[in-house]
Amino acid sequence: MADAVKSATLKIDGTTLELPIRSGTIGPDVVDITKLYASAKVFTYDPAFSSTASCESKITYIDGDEGILLYRGYPIEQLAEQGDFIETCYLLYYGELPTPSQRRVFEHAITHHTMVHEQLTRFFQGFRRDAHPMAVMVAVIGAMSAFYHDSLDINDARQREIASHRMIAKLPTIAAMAFKYSIGQPFVYPKNDLSYAANFLRMCFAVPCEDYVVNPVLARAMDKIFILHADHEQNASTSTVRLAGSSGANPFACIAAGIACLWGPAHGGANEAALEMLAAIGDPGKVPDFIAKVKDKTSHHRLMGFGHRVYKNYDPRAKIMQKTAHEVLVELGINDDPLFDVARELERAALSDSYFIERKLYPNVDFYSGIILRALGFPTSMFTVLFALARTVGWISQWKEMIEDPNYKIGRPRQLYTGPARRDYLPLSKRGK
Ligand code: CMC
Repeated sequence: MADAVKSATLKIDGTTLELPIRSGTIGPDVVDITKLYASAKVFTYDPAFSSTASCESKITYIDGDEGILLYRGYPIEQLAEQGDFIETCYLLYYGELPTPSQRRVFEHAITHHTMVHEQLTRFFQGFRRDAHPMAVMVAVIGAMSAFYHDSLDINDARQREIASHRMIAKLPTIAAMAFKYSIGQPFVYPKNDLSYAANFLRMCFAVPCEDYVVNPVLARAMDKIFILHADHEQNASTSTVRLAGSSGANPFACIAAGIACLWGPAHGGANEAALEMLAAIGDPGKVPDFIAKVKDKTSHHRLMGFGHRVYKNYDPRAKIMQKTAHEVLVELGINDDPLFDVARELERAALSDSYFIERKLYPNVDFYSGIILRALGFPTSMFTVLFALARTVGWISQWKEMIEDPNYKIGRPRQLYTGPARRDYLPLSKRGK
């Protein structure tokens, strides 16, 4: 962050304070209030962090008004069309796109960390078969800290790197196991000659009794979905990972915390909720009724996959997702997917309705992703798991950035206390009947 050249003046009870204003590379300036409490004995109040930059970061930039998303400066559209997930991981984690030899070394490391400790596979048997796979993910990723003791020292740079590689590599294996367990099929072990996405599809859909050939168009679509979900600045789950990590917790525990936060329907759970919504509508002809219900605040219905705290324009990921959905449906010979028709009609109707226009509500990444994942063969309960798999590299890159910041310390927000003022304890006998 550049040294402050501008400042803001704040007057409180006759005292005038000069607060430094700092600038990043692009994006809004920040008013630095770190010394505010010490100087003026007041806190700032911003419960949902709508106006708060919680950290300095060099990883991801979003311009929500223009609908721009950059990973380390590269537009998401270019990475999704021209790059792949492995180099996106390298870029997010190390800060630059890899050279050919860096890529070879990194891909080899990820490929050769995909197997999990055999005893970890038994962990699954403790779960009911109908457990939500996100419940399984929270538990198994947290449990990794009980298996990989040689990468728990957060103050050792090499151990941090090994833990990060392990998580990027093993998340697909564990996610596929959660899926296989839920459908009562045997686990399929990773195969080293396949790409990251193709290997994941094989671990999910192969069975021991027949050969499974990965369709390259579907593997490319899976890879793109991973790229689109890889990082998204200081969202709720990333902030959770950073806050958990700020206490010095081990990286596996921090990622488990991020997965728990991602599960909620306002965040990663929206892709599952969006597809269920499309299925419940069922027919493009029923879209007007549904839109009316969403606009009626007493119904407590939201148009899932629409709206975003930061984007007040089309989420750039949604555009790529819609195109990819079309490609996947064509490849699978699904000429007429009723849910895709419902989604397109919903989008058309919402984007021409004053309720959505005035509130700047546009499709987000979750609106079309469910259509693709369903066409690939995943049940809705797996959708958020796939989000978690892809977001792991973002979480771990943000965690690493925080730990490597010489100024980092434990995160500790304050509050506006509105409970009872000090009062004296009354013995039970004096508290009425
Ligand atoms: N459907 C109907 N109305 C909406 C929606 C929606 N999806 N989203 C926001 N609004 C309305 C909301 O009722 C409010 O109206 P009013 O001003 O009349 O009270 C206004 O728009 C502002 O909404 P908000 O809840 O104050 O906005 P927020 O920034 O707190 O919420 C959000 C952002 C993403 C939680 C919200 O848009 C939402 O619930 N969307 C549906 C869930 C969803 O798709 N989530 C995925 C987000 S992208 C992926 C990810 O981050 O994981």
